[in-house]
Amino acid sequence: MNNYYELKISINPEMEEIISDICFSNLSCEGVVLAEETYKDLVMTATTEGTLRVFLTDIEENPIEILKTERELLKSRGFSDEELGSWDVTLDEKENQDWSKKWKEKWTVTHVTDKIAVVPSWLSYTPQNGEITITLDPGCAFGTGTHQTTQLCMKALEKYLKSGDTIADIGTGSGILAILAKKLGAASAYGCDIDETVIDVARENAGVNGVDCTFELNTADKITEKYDFVCANILHNVLFEIMGDLKNIMKDKGILSLSGILNEKKDVVLEAIKREDLKIIDTLNQDQWISFVVTK
Ligand SMILES: C[S@@+](CC[C@H](N)C(=O)[O-])C[C@H]1O[C@@H](n2cnc3c(N)ncnc32)[C@H](O)[C@@H]1O
Repeated sequence: MNNYYELKISINPEMEEIISDICFSNLSCEGVVLAEETYKDLVMTATTEGTLRVFLTDIEENPIEILKTERELLKSRGFSDEELGSWDVTLDEKENQDWSKKWKEKWTVTHVTDKIAVVPSWLSYTPQNGEITITLDPGCAFGTGTHQTTQLCMKALEKYLKSGDTIADIGTGSGILAILAKKLGAASAYGCDIDETVIDVARENAGVNGVDCTFELNTADKITEKYDFVCANILHNVLFEIMGDLKNIMKDKGILSLSGILNEKKDVVLEAIKREDLKIIDTLNQDQWISFVVTK
């Protein structure tokens, strides 16, 4: 059986989603795990470092060089060294009888609320008392259900989505929010993303969960339809840029759930909410993350 390779990257945990995306898009990456125990007990600030463990099936192209180039690209887009973290990298070849189990052993059922559980595809789980379960393969795209920003949107969906609503999920990743919306009774669920690699993953995930969702490569500014519920779990600086587009796809009495916001970056998003004359009806918090639920 083939050996596998493990990259360990020292990151600012705030960058987890971006670096994971880079690994999935540019490397032979089968899975990533943020070694939460490394930073769980630390105060999470922009300078805090966590370790992202990235599991690779081969290293034909030099992953360390690729990461260096991608880091430079992010710096040229305005990210500072402090925001990025050091990205110190170690690469180990691991002997292996059953390497695919190695990164999977960390994953268990995630109870997002009393009513919602996310179950890794290789585990069997019996839902308790009418619980909604979402089955996902955590390896393939952002949106495993374990990240606080995803959970904040899931909580907003549980609280504010009405049966029969139409929803749009901008930055859908694994499709987890659109899938949940359908399971909560949405009439239709649309998800789009700028990363073409996630679209098939999201479609597959909807299929595995037995729900009918539409996923495509798209951005909010190109959408002409209006929705009862819009969710966007994307980095604060992207939310700042696209807030007007998100507003445009909300129905008059529509709801917009905004997540992906570190407490220390919330002012950026609040400024865009004000700029677009949106009204905050709820604020949800989890650890160092904050999310806003807004209406027109
Ligand atoms: C943090 S992930 C969220 C995934 C999933 N919705 C969740 O809540 O877990 C953000 C996703 O937004 C996508 N994205 C980033 N900028 C975007 C934009 N301007 N329009 C649409 N998608 C975008 C990324 O490719 C990524 O898949």
